[in-house]
Amino acid sequence: MELEAAATAQLEANWREGVTRAGVPYAFTCPSARRYRHQWLWDSCFHAIAWARVRPERARAELRTLLRAGRPDGFVPHTTFWDAPPRWRRAPLYATPTFRRPLATCSIQTPLLAFAWERVALASAAEAPGFAAEALGPLQAHADWLERERDPDHDGLIAILLPDESGLDDSPKYDPVYGALAHHRPGYLRLLRRCRALGWDSRAILAGTDEHVEDVLVNVAHALSLGALARLLRRAGDAAAARRYAQRAQRTADALMDRCWDERRGLFFDRAGRREWPVEISTWSSLAPLALGAAIPAAIRLRLVEEHLLDPRRYRARYGIPSVAMDEPSFRPGFDRFRTWRGPSWVNAAWLLVGGLDALGLGTEGDRIAAGLAAAVSRHGFREYYHPHTGAGIGAAGFGWSTLVADLAAGRQGPPPGAPA
Ligand code: GLC
Repeated sequence: MELEAAATAQLEANWREGVTRAGVPYAFTCPSARRYRHQWLWDSCFHAIAWARVRPERARAELRTLLRAGRPDGFVPHTTFWDAPPRWRRAPLYATPTFRRPLATCSIQTPLLAFAWERVALASAAEAPGFAAEALGPLQAHADWLERERDPDHDGLIAILLPDESGLDDSPKYDPVYGALAHHRPGYLRLLRRCRALGWDSRAILAGTDEHVEDVLVNVAHALSLGALARLLRRAGDAAAARRYAQRAQRTADALMDRCWDERRGLFFDRAGRREWPVEISTWSSLAPLALGAAIPAAIRLRLVEEHLLDPRRYRARYGIPSVAMDEPSFRPGFDRFRTWRGPSWVNAAWLLVGGLDALGLGTEGDRIAAGLAAAVSRHGFREYYHPHTGAGIGAAGFGWSTLVADLAAGRQGPPPGAPA
């Protein structure tokens, strides 16, 4: 089957809709029918972007469902269970308030919601022109919640409390920060217990513990969303609010430059704990500011590309972009039953970074990456991730956001919009 048709068929197979026992309607794409049955925040953002090209009404429904899972104060959960409560074996691993039929987690995930909303609004312009402005209030509340609760030191960078709040659950960059409390270790249950005991009060957790991270990827997503929100507000005629959010987008990009850029290594590194020490491990998150386009100086983006992304010893692999630099001692390209994001290539990472290559006029390299992933997908289907050397499909099957490969291969209409509005 042609890639585009196969991608649509996969999204269709993963589509779930219904009404909860409390009468709340939902509609979303589950990441993988067997392994991941719930709604995940950043997965849904990527699913909506993939749906937008073929069935924008599905994309709109998916993003509206995400907001419906949130609270009036602007919090939007990492995972929402809707009609499928977690099974007893996995339930303890979710960051829920209690174990008794929780509807959602108390944790967040990489905040791409407004970014996805803008893309879906653009694709909906003809058939649903009102979509662009219909959630400006909740989207602003969401951005404000993140800054109020997750940036209490006002340095322009929001913090994550759990490693999986970035979506990069077991990345080796979290090993030195979380130690025995890391996502793949039994101590993770202790980390969750501690957060529960502190009532998921972000400020108390940030002030009283050292296992938290100002994460580069999460802040790139935050800046992308702030920039998208600014453009949505401007289009709706609210110039003053648009200016404020555009400034906040640039402030986050500047904070990444001031606090996370390592001039010597030519990479962006997370800052961890109360001392905000730099975590000097090269993962694809270190390259993620590429996606911010002109909000980051071109010379810096070029260094990311020339010294890392296109270096065959580091990230220039045959299939996709490895999630960890190939010259890192922790790099593992193959399957690990208990750990993700420690080497294999993921389609969403390539999708974000290829836009950054396009913006630098390096679209032919973007084409090469897209073609490698398309070859892996046509051989092995839409898998959770791929072996960067052999292209073998690994992890969950029928994986939703891997359908973005169709967008990468055929539909690249220039870079994803960067942060500045
Ligand atoms: C895995 C991934 C995470 C994703 C989730 C659902 O846990 O690490 O990023 O959101 O699966 O697909």
